Formats: sequence, structure tokens, C-alpha cells
Amino acid sequence: MLEVKDLHAYYGDSHVLQGVSLEVGASECVALLGRNGAGKSTTLKSIVGLIPSRRGKVVFKNRQLDRLPTHRVARAGIAYVPEDRGIFPTVTVDEHLGIALKAARGRSSRRTADYVYQLFPRLAERRRNLGGQLSGGEQQMLAIGRALVSGPDLLILDEPSEGLAPVIIDSLAEVLNAIKSEGTPILLVEQNYHLATYLAHRVYVLSQGLIRFSGTTSALIADETVRRTYLSV
Ligand SMILES: Nc1ncnc2c1ncn2[C@@H]1O[C@H](COP(=O)(O)OP(=O)(O)OP(=O)(O)O)[C@@H](O)[C@H]1O
Ligand SMILES: [Mg+2]
Repeated sequence: MLEVKDLHAYYGDSHVLQGVSLEVGASECVALLGRNGAGKSTTLKSIVGLIPSRRGKVVFKNRQLDRLPTHRVARAGIAYVPEDRGIFPTVTVDEHLGIALKAARGRSSRRTADYVYQLFPRLAERRRNLGGQLSGGEQQMLAIGRALVSGPDLLILDEPSEGLAPVIIDSLAEVLNAIKSEGTPILLVEQNYHLATYLAHRVYVLSQGLIRFSGTTSALIADETVRRTYLSV
């Protein structure tokens, strides 16, 4: 499905990604873990074309994506939910979904606003509220819901649980689990080790721009050295 090979990225002179390789298979949920500043968000941004990679290859459904602009990456079927969620403060919940539906015109897998409202009943209650009136949890639900309306072939999430209360994280975990069960492949960046290991089939651990561990979730859970050294858990 997604194949990232030897990706390098720089901010000015700083060599932030030093050859990152990873894969996400069909129906797979893959977590990318690592401490603050490890390069997780940079990896995701390089995949979706928000920052140019200087070297390496991103192949999605047998098509080379690197050097494609972000809107073309979206059209290729990758939905990306950024760390900051990107909700417009003066646009209603309904309108957010409407905009996303319009952008997904022509995709046969396109879903409806009702699909999102069934997944997140709380959003249905707030459909006429503005983005700026939503709680952090509701904004995250909207960001994920908006990403799902295209019926993406891959969902990329950057720290969906960040800043959310434990009870909200629990309900988010159930929704992501449902999305996973429907067979949508997910690439998940998380600081929340428990959420990541609950959802992911496989895990990559990143530190200082290099992949230090790659394996099944149970292999990570069993590997105390990797957990202590790179994740402090
Ligand atoms: N726009 C930027 N300009 C310069 N340096 C940056 C920029 N964005 C990130 N960096 C640096 O690149 C490195 C990797 O950042 P990145 O955001 O990918 O880390 P991360 O793993 O997502 O961390 P976090 O868990 O804090 O979100 C860090 O050292 C960071 O300071
Ligand atoms: Mg980040």
C-alpha cells in the first residue's frame, strides 16, 4: 500500500530525517513512535508533500508520490490529520464536512456527512456550531471525520490523542478501532504508548531521524530495552 524508502529531510542545515524507511500494508494499522523531536511529524509531512524530501522515495498503490503537491497526494487517496487539527474557527461543523465532500467529488469511495455523524454522535449534536466553539476533543473528532469523508485508502494521524482528557481518549480509541476494523489502513503517530499499542499491528520507533526498532506490537511490548531507551515506558 504505502512504501517509504530511505527518506531524508532537512530544515535548513539540520538533517532531521536520516534515511527513514517504513511500510503500511493493506488493512494494516502501523504506529510510528518516538520522543519529542524524533522526527515523527516531519516523516508524515514528507509523505504528504508538505515539506520536500531531499532524498528517498514514497510509493503509494504502486505510484511514486514524492515531489507531488499535497492536494495531489490527497487525490491519490491519502487523508492526513495534522498535529494542529486545522479546524477553521469561523466555519460550522456541517460546512467543514461539506467542503471535504466537495473536494472528494469523483471518488467512488466517498462517504456522507451522516457516516461521520454516526461515528461521532457528539458532532451531530454540534453540527451548527462553529469550529472555534468546539472543545479540543470535538475538534479532533471533526478533523478525523473530515479526513474520512473521502473514503481514504490510507488515513494518516499525527498525535490524535494530544491534549485530550483520558475519557475522551478512550472514546477516540474505540472509533479508531472501528475505522481499523472496516479495513482502512492507518499510519498513526502517537506519544500515548497505550493507545498506540492498543491499535497498532506493527510499530516503528524513531529516534533522531533514524528507525531504531521495527516489529510487531507484541515484539515491542516484549523488548524492554527499546522501550526504555527510546520511549521511556
Ligand atoms: N519548521 C521547522 N524548522 C526547523 N526545525 C524544525 C521545524 N520543525 C521541526 N523542526 C525540528 O526537527 C526535529 C524533528 O521535529 P518533528 O516535529 O518531526 O518531531 P516530532 O517527533 O513530531 O516531535 P513531537 O513529538 O514533539 O511532535 C526537531 O528537532 C524539531 O525541532
Ligand atoms: Mg510531532
